[in-house]
Amino acid sequence: MAIIRSTILLFAASAVASPALLPRQASTVTVTQTASAASPTSSAWNSGAVDNFPIHSSCNATEAAQIKKGLGETLTIVRHARDHILRWGNSSEIYQKYFGNASTGEPIGWYTKIADGDKAGVLFRCDNPDGNCEQEGWAGHWRGENATSETVICPLSYEVRRPLEALCGFGWDVANGATNFYWASDLLHRLLHIPKVGEGIVEHYAEDYASVIELAQTESDLSVRDSDTLQLFALEAYAHDIAIPGEGCAGKYTATSSEAASATSAAASSSSVEAASATETPSPTLSEAPSATSAAAAVSVEVLPET
Ligand SMILES: *[C@@H]1O[C@H](CO)[C@@H](O)[C@H](O)[C@H]1NC(C)=O
Ligand SMILES: *[C@@H]1O[C@H](CO)[C@@H](O)[C@H](O)[C@H]1NC(C)=O
Ligand SMILES: *[C@@H]1O[C@H](CO)[C@@H](O)[C@H](O)[C@H]1NC(C)=O
Ligand SMILES: *[C@@H]1O[C@H](CO)[C@@H](O)[C@H](O)[C@H]1NC(C)=O
Repeated sequence: MAIIRSTILLFAASAVASPALLPRQASTVTVTQTASAASPTSSAWNSGAVDNFPIHSSCNATEAAQIKKGLGETLTIVRHARDHILRWGNSSEIYQKYFGNASTGEPIGWYTKIADGDKAGVLFRCDNPDGNCEQEGWAGHWRGENATSETVICPLSYEVRRPLEALCGFGWDVANGATNFYWASDLLHRLLHIPKVGEGIVEHYAEDYASVIELAQTESDLSVRDSDTLQLFALEAYAHDIAIPGEGCAGKYTATSSEAASATSAAASSSSVEAASATETPSPTLSEAPSATSAAAAVSVEVLPET
């Protein structure tokens, strides 16, 4: 009796269970429909997002291609800089070298903004609207009060900037080379000046490599928002982790080569609008034709805004 009853119950249970499968399947379909009905709504928050930096129609195909590639390289190094910090945090020696004991959130944030932030209006153009490209040694400039979200790239850039593949080449190293030797870091610098990107918070709190290193030990709260620090960390992390794995090209700072540089950058910072002027001052470029005039050009450019 007991056996029969439990069998009946079991049967009843499965009889209940199997019809139950049908409604459940039916309801699965319903859920799926709900989800797909919702997906236009869930992507709408992001509508109009701009994932690539706009390049103005004043750039011809050749120029646009080079700027686009350079910006792609900027994204490559900032993504890696962010990923390096996400992986190693403040235990990374490279992190400690550039950011001291500062917490990791801020540099991760700046790098992420550039990598993944909306790029609408952050325009690169090639027509020389402010006439600055005519000045010797100018490879580009932020348009400042004339158009705060715009950057002009002058023809000299196509001659002197190097691709990321050349990182650690030409005798360049992080300690002694100029950050604007490479498209990647030059354009990173330019982007950080755009209010939409750097929010007026990323600024020049250090003047050169030596003071970047010093700042990390003394005022690391400024290191995490220093333009040069953000460039140098990104270059060094990429060089060490990717370009020449485990080795990189940190270099050993030699004061002599940069005393001249810091003299010019002191002039630059006193003019408040920093000149990325060192356009082609660094030793790796000394052999270049444009650099014959660059020392003089760099000095004269210092008083002018943001080459
Ligand atoms: C690293 O961060 C932790 C907190 O997450 C902190 O306790 C530690 O002092 C930091 N180390 C350095 C070297 O800044
Ligand atoms: C980091 O170091 C500086 C200077 O050495 C010190 O003043 C500051 O309190 C430290 N900050 C943290 C978060 O440990
Ligand atoms: C803004 O435009 C004026 C007038 O054309 C020009 O003199 C000035 O140098 C420009 N500013 C920048 C930062 O290029
Ligand atoms: C684009 O402009 C550059 C000057 O920046 C010029 O040298 C080049 O020949 C132009 N390219 C084309 C395809 O017109």
